[in-house]
Amino acid sequence: MSYFWLIVPYLLGSVSFSYIAGRIFGGIDIRTVGSGNAGATNVYRNLGLKPFLFASFFDILKGLVAVILTKSLFPENEILIILSAVAVIIGHNWPIFFGFKGGKGIASTIGVVIGLHPLSALIVIVTMALIVYITRYVSLGSLISTLLLPILFYLFMGDKVYYIIFALVLTVMAWYRHRSNIKRLLNGTESKLGQKR
Ligand code: G3P
Repeated sequence: MSYFWLIVPYLLGSVSFSYIAGRIFGGIDIRTVGSGNAGATNVYRNLGLKPFLFASFFDILKGLVAVILTKSLFPENEILIILSAVAVIIGHNWPIFFGFKGGKGIASTIGVVIGLHPLSALIVIVTMALIVYITRYVSLGSLISTLLLPILFYLFMGDKVYYIIFALVLTVMAWYRHRSNIKRLLNGTESKLGQKR
């Protein structure tokens, strides 16, 4: 029965704050401009820093809230906690409120990892920031830092196989959502931070 709870994190994830930022700060559907992604990077690309901070803060927060809520309601059920983390990211990527056309899940992934293992989250954030700072490619930062997740979970929580499987699922989802970015990175047409597409 407790698995019905997963509808709640899915619905929470479906509240796309990047879409909302586009509407509030620019009166636009963020999915129709730039990369077409309902994500904080595309918000920055098209609307600037303040909307970016709004979108990233709340998209991270909803991931964290989903995990905290599930932890407090079902503290013994680690599988449900992990599945709630997956559900909130699925909601973000395929939101029921926005025609299942959402983002790539990086902010919400950071949010759930903060809730599950803050040290891993810190390492992921620092790695991502460094890659973006050096290369100016946010997508490359997202791809490499999500690749790091299963390694970190193996190092810190290797005794719990389901955490490693969970981290692999997050990495696969993130890479799947970045298919177009991977193509552009490979053929040299990916836009750098701040560049309009
Ligand atoms: O988190 C999304 C980022 O990695 C790429 O976004 O808009 O450049 O496709 P975008």
